[in-house]
Amino acid sequence: MDICKKRVRTGAIVLAAGKGKRMGGDTRKQFLLLDGRPILYYSLRCFETSDIDDIILVTGVDDVDYCQREIVEAYGFRKVRAVVVGGKERYHSVYEGLKALGSLWNGNDADGYVLIHDGARPFIDLPIVESALEAAKKYRTGVVGMPVKDTIKIADADGFALATPKRSDTWLIQTPQSFLYPLIREAYEKMMSREEYQEGITDDAMVVETMTDCPVKLVEGSYENIKVTTPEDMEVAMAILNRRKTGIS
Ligand code: CTP
Ligand code: MG
Repeated sequence: MDICKKRVRTGAIVLAAGKGKRMGGDTRKQFLLLDGRPILYYSLRCFETSDIDDIILVTGVDDVDYCQREIVEAYGFRKVRAVVVGGKERYHSVYEGLKALGSLWNGNDADGYVLIHDGARPFIDLPIVESALEAAKKYRTGVVGMPVKDTIKIADADGFALATPKRSDTWLIQTPQSFLYPLIREAYEKMMSREEYQEGITDDAMVVETMTDCPVKLVEGSYENIKVTTPEDMEVAMAILNRRKTGIS
């Protein structure tokens, strides 16, 4: 009899299939250099050095070879098991990543956990990975975010304030978003089965919120875990990186 407790499998899906329209420019933002290395490098390095077992990298059809050669091989990321082609919307890319992870695990996924992460967020760190995973093991979901600092208003189509949610109840949501694999896989299968379910989907937590009864647990990430979205974010990113390098806070 096997008395060893089977270790649960953990995977990360890193998304890099976006076009970076708000950033503009010729190079897709996930490949822009930050201190000589592509933005995408930083989150892959974090997962590589974490306890995560397997990484699936999702990118554009024209960038698969570049990612494989210039990122995965060049930096020696040995946990990247596959570089797969994403889709038109972010949720299409996530779905491709989920399928690739499912194939890799070959059906042994009932107690596996997956972290879904934007490759455009370079400042993820080991404590964030750990707390997202810990929450998922406890609650089946662990979604990283931070309480807002500004007051948030809900506006109508003409730009008039409709409501002001209580600030202490309002969070900015980041990634990684972490889930029990079968939960997120089934939620995605359901969402992908009907076009009307896909309207307005902007993150993975939303898929669980709308397609299942499972509550989504929020966990604190960091205010530095920014998504590089527009050109001014590159300056903020450089400042964060420099401060981390010099250790001056
Ligand atoms: N992403 C993806 N596939 C898509 C769209 C987005 O893999 N079809 C990824 C992006 O590469 C990014 C993350 O999802 O790492 C968050 O998306 P976002 O910041 O919106 O990036 P882009 O879609 O590239 O940017 P934009 O919306 O300005 O075009
Ligand atoms: Mg986008």
